[in-house]
Amino acid sequence: MLETEALQKKFKNQLAVDGINIYMEKGESVGLLGPNGAGKSTTISMISSLIKPTEGDVRLNGKSVVKHPQLIRNVLGVVPQEIALYEELSAYENLKFFGNIYRIHGKQLEVKIDKVLRMVGLKERQKDVVKTYSGGMKRRINIAIALLHEPEILIMDEPTVGIDPQSRSYILEMVRKLNEEKGLTILYTSHYMEEVERLCDRVYIMDHGKIIASGTKEELKRVLSNEETILIDMHPSSPSLMEALAKDQEILQVSETDKGMKLIVPKGSNKLASIFHQTEVFGVQVTNVQVQIPTLEDVFLHLTGRTLRD
Ligand SMILES: Nc1ncnc2c1ncn2[C@@H]1O[C@H](COP(=O)(O)OP(=O)(O)O)[C@@H](O)[C@H]1O
Ligand SMILES: [Mg+2]
Repeated sequence: MLETEALQKKFKNQLAVDGINIYMEKGESVGLLGPNGAGKSTTISMISSLIKPTEGDVRLNGKSVVKHPQLIRNVLGVVPQEIALYEELSAYENLKFFGNIYRIHGKQLEVKIDKVLRMVGLKERQKDVVKTYSGGMKRRINIAIALLHEPEILIMDEPTVGIDPQSRSYILEMVRKLNEEKGLTILYTSHYMEEVERLCDRVYIMDHGKIIASGTKEELKRVLSNEETILIDMHPSSPSLMEALAKDQEILQVSETDKGMKLIVPKGSNKLASIFHQTEVFGVQVTNVQVQIPTLEDVFLHLTGRTLRD
């Protein structure tokens, strides 16, 4: 349905997007996962024809989006990373304003506004001015705007960054419903792997402007089928312990977590005894140990040597 062809964007001397090929089939929920600065937003801007690629093209059902930007604008709804609303207007008035831009008017617009406000769960608040809304509510209004013209494809650019947990789970559940129940094709961008893991069938991992891995979640994790992850909660945190463990040939990765550290080791390597020995040597108390199946975060760590949160 939608694909990019060696899509590239150069800003002065910087290659923000470096020749990527991604595709989306109708009805799919696709994740674009990558750390800040990877080139996700630039990719979205090119797909939605807000900026022109330096090289390459975007094709909608085979037709060039660069040549025919109107094609994509009719079928695409975009929820931008930056919230774009009129703070002094009510949610209802904002929707009316954006509806008119889409050339929807009168009774038809009223019906659509009612529908999208219910979808994002803000019908009751429609008369309140936007500046009284929380960040999460503003984000939901942004989503409502993107849905107003009933797009077939919805692109969301990090829709849960910086919002309250309640709005976050509301949005995640809404995205799932739009895809599974309404059949919307979704491109979901995030640097939170848990979200992509939960919502998306297929995933592209992007870093430094390039797609460094792609496939279904299962395919991506198979990269790690020979490894296991050990999560250790400990007190106090100890960079010198982590440094010592990183020197062990049989420990592939050591990284810090909120509560302690995460180690990646070859499957069946029986490293626990020597790890505990080291924690004792460094005077660190272990409060919890968990051996995990790999996550997409681990795949990223494996491919780049960095965590997505860096
Ligand atoms: N308008 C611009 N002018 C110059 N550089 C830009 C512009 N937009 C983005 N960049 C640069 O391109 C890179 C990719 O940015 P972006 O697409 O926003 O990444 P992401 O959305 O994955 O965080 C970054 O290094 C960013 O600084
Ligand atoms: Mg971005």
